[in-house]
Amino acid sequence: MADRAGSDRGGLTARRAAVALLRGVFEDGALLSALIDAPDGPLSALAPEDRARAQRLALAVLRHADPADAVLKPFLRKLPDARARQILRLAAVEICAEGVAPHAAVGAAVALMGEDRKTAHLSGLANAVLRRVASEGTARWTGLPPQRLPGWLRGRMQSAWGAKVTAAIEAVHAMTPPVDLTAKGYPEALAAATGGTLLPTGSVRLDAGRQISALSGYGSGKFWVQDAAAALPARVLAARAGERVLDLCAAPGGKTLQLAAAGADVTALDVSEPRLGRLHDNLARTRLAAEVVVADALDWQGGPFDAVLLDPPCSATGTIRRHPDLPFVKTAADLKPLAVLQAALLDRAIQLTRPGGRLVFCTCSLLPEEGEAQASAVLGRHPELHPDAAAFDRSWIDPAWRTPLGLRLRPDHWAGRGGIDGFFIAAFRRSG
Ligand SMILES: C[S@@+](CC[C@H](N)C(=O)[O-])C[C@H]1O[C@@H](n2cnc3c(N)ncnc32)[C@H](O)[C@@H]1O
Repeated sequence: MADRAGSDRGGLTARRAAVALLRGVFEDGALLSALIDAPDGPLSALAPEDRARAQRLALAVLRHADPADAVLKPFLRKLPDARARQILRLAAVEICAEGVAPHAAVGAAVALMGEDRKTAHLSGLANAVLRRVASEGTARWTGLPPQRLPGWLRGRMQSAWGAKVTAAIEAVHAMTPPVDLTAKGYPEALAAATGGTLLPTGSVRLDAGRQISALSGYGSGKFWVQDAAAALPARVLAARAGERVLDLCAAPGGKTLQLAAAGADVTALDVSEPRLGRLHDNLARTRLAAEVVVADALDWQGGPFDAVLLDPPCSATGTIRRHPDLPFVKTAADLKPLAVLQAALLDRAIQLTRPGGRLVFCTCSLLPEEGEAQASAVLGRHPELHPDAAAFDRSWIDPAWRTPLGLRLRPDHWAGRGGIDGFFIAAFRRSG
């Protein structure tokens, strides 16, 4: 076994941790991000390279758990559960999707089975089954469809976007997404410095797997990681130097950094102190300034502001390609309270916008009830609010994204470029 001092040669440490992460998601319903950050979690005692590898392996299994089960099933009377299930899935994904040499993946799975009293008796079975996966399963794998969304989400997506688009979204979810950066200064210079591709919207796209902290300009805060879609709400708001801007629901702060980099006088408010800790770290690294407020937006008194950006909590179904654990952890029951909170926060955001001021509302959701429906309902509740069509009159906006009240981005947009997170963005003006 390896510890903090060094990683083991066979990669058992990272695989053992990946299995623990997968059990946390599938058996305990925990979010991967919470397991990764937990002080006494599966990654807490690991060296950085083992942490990174364990996360990469767990993400790969979460993207391909169903196809993995499908290639294992013909060689088993019954799929085992608990730890043994995740060990087999991991090895099947390594062999079929990750291009790992079968002897390495099989050897690791057999060793992991042998480590635990409850799985030790399955070591021989794992050896036999995984050898067959390596010889016969890989051909079957290539013919399998991408992993489906769970029923509660698939039905809603099909109603909203149709069966063909839902299948296209599932295909993008199966791919490892690229890494997008937002430049503090000139995006062209950042693209040149990092060897990335400058996207039409101004984000810089890098292939997956680059070590971000090793990139030139990271330490001096010349950029931050932010999906190309997540960078659009602040671009639509187009804050000007000296304007008073409120970022309501701001943490961990990607949009706050954009507003501050534009020279606005930014107030960044969030109810979560730990998440605001990350915002403080981001401001310090990028040497940008904002007034940071810990408060519940529904109670807080302040403003009014020239412009308000509201990015409330949502199902985050637009980010499944980066967070493939979400479909296994969230349920339909999560949706209703989120929609109620979004509407209440929208009402509050209007009160905090000065007459004549601008309001941008966005969610990283693929569900119209958290996007299009919220935007049209708020116009019905507030006669002083008007759609701001001029906010979308920009050359960098792909006409395919336009909807009557804003922009709709889906993961299948830009599929040839590596996809983009799902987002809805609406822009309003409050009349005087
Ligand atoms: C989608 S995230 C915001 C992401 C952020 N805008 C960014 O770009 O990094 C939603 C945030 O809303 C915060 N939040 C939830 N309820 C809130 C409330 N009542 N008042 C203020 N913030 C709230 C959560 O703590 C969370 O950080």
